[in-house]
Amino acid sequence: MKITFFSTQPYDRESFLKHHIDTQFELVFLEEKLTEHTVSLASGSQAICVFVNDNLNEAVIHQLSQLNVQLIALRCAGFNNVDIKAAHACNIRVVRVPAYSPHAVAEHTLAMIMTLNRKTHKAYNRVREQNFSLNGLLGFDLHKKTVGVIGTGHIGEVFCRIMHGLGCNILACDPVKKLEIEKMGIPYVPMNELFSRCDILSLHCPLNEETRYLIDSSVIAQMKTGVMLINTGRGGLIDTKAVIAGLKSGKIGYLGIDVYEQEADLFFQNLSEQIILDDTIARLMTFPNVLITAHQGFFTQEALDQIALTTFANIKRFVAGEIPANEVKI
Ligand code: NAI
Repeated sequence: MKITFFSTQPYDRESFLKHHIDTQFELVFLEEKLTEHTVSLASGSQAICVFVNDNLNEAVIHQLSQLNVQLIALRCAGFNNVDIKAAHACNIRVVRVPAYSPHAVAEHTLAMIMTLNRKTHKAYNRVREQNFSLNGLLGFDLHKKTVGVIGTGHIGEVFCRIMHGLGCNILACDPVKKLEIEKMGIPYVPMNELFSRCDILSLHCPLNEETRYLIDSSVIAQMKTGVMLINTGRGGLIDTKAVIAGLKSGKIGYLGIDVYEQEADLFFQNLSEQIILDDTIARLMTFPNVLITAHQGFFTQEALDQIALTTFANIKRFVAGEIPANEVKI
C-alpha cells in the first residue's frame, strides 16, 4: 500500500522510517503542503498522511475521493483543518494521534511563561555582549499567581499539574469536568470568572466553531490589566487584531503564542531571506513583551516517536479491516 506524506520535514522522514518495521508500506515523502493545487500528488495512494497546516477542505476531499484515497491519517491531534463531514460523505476515514505527548506541549507552555516572565532570552544576549546589567529584566514569582486554564484535556491536565507544582492557584474551565483536576483542588469556574481573576491565561481547547475567536476584544476588556496570555492551542482561538490592540493599550502585559491564525503561510519554513507580507505578525514581532514560537510545542523526540508509532498502528488497523481506534467522527 502506498502512503503519501504531505508537508514533511527531514525529522518527519527520519522518525517514520525509524518506525517503519514489520510492514510493507510504500512511503512517499513530499515537502509540499496539501492544497487543491497539490492534491494530484496523492495519485496511486490508498492513504495520505497530513499535518496541521495541510488544507483538507471539501474540494480537496472530493479530489482525494476521485483519486481513490480511502484513509486520511493526521499525524497530529487537532483536526480543525479537515472537513470531516465531506470525508464521511466520500467514505474516506480520518484517523489522528490524539495524545502523543501532552508533556511536550505543556512543558513548552511553561517555557513560554518563564521566558516572558524572567526574560531569559534577553539575559542570554546581554551577557554574551558583556552587559551584566539587570535593568529591564524584572520578573515576578509564579508562586501564588492565579493561572486560568481553558481546556483540561490531555495537555491542559499536565499543564495544571506543572503549575500546581509551582504553587500557583489554578482555575479551570471545560464543559467536561475531570475528577483528576478536582482532586488537585482546582475548581472549575465559569469562563467570565476565570477571565477576570487570572494573572496568566493558557488556552488548551480545540479550535472549532464554538471556540473560534474565544479571545476577542470583549473578553480582553474583562481581563486583569497586565495579564499574560499564552496560546499553544490553535491560532484561531484568538482574534489577533484584538490582542494587538490589548498589547498597545497595556491591558495585555505579555503574549506567548506557539500558533498563529495565518501560520500556514509562514511556519515550518526558513523565510529569513524573504520579505514578510503579513503585517499582523510583523507588528506582533515588534513588541518586546511578545514571544512567538513556530508551532514547536509538540516537537520533542518522545512525541515524534509516538506520532510515527500511532500513525502506523492506525493505518495497520485500517488495512486489517478493523475500526481504527483513533478515528475522527462527526
Ligand atoms: P483534548 O481533546 O485532550 O482536550 C481538549 C479539551 O478542551 C477537552 O477536555 C474539551 O472538553 C475541552 N474543550 C472543548 N471545548 C471547550 C470550550 N469551549 N471551552 C473549554 N474547554 C473546551 O486535546 P489535547 O490533546 O489536550 O490538545 C488540546 C489542543 O492543543 C488541540 O486541540 C490542539 O489544537 C492543540 N495542540 C497543539 C500542539 C502544539 O504543538 N502547539 C500539539 C498538540 C495539540
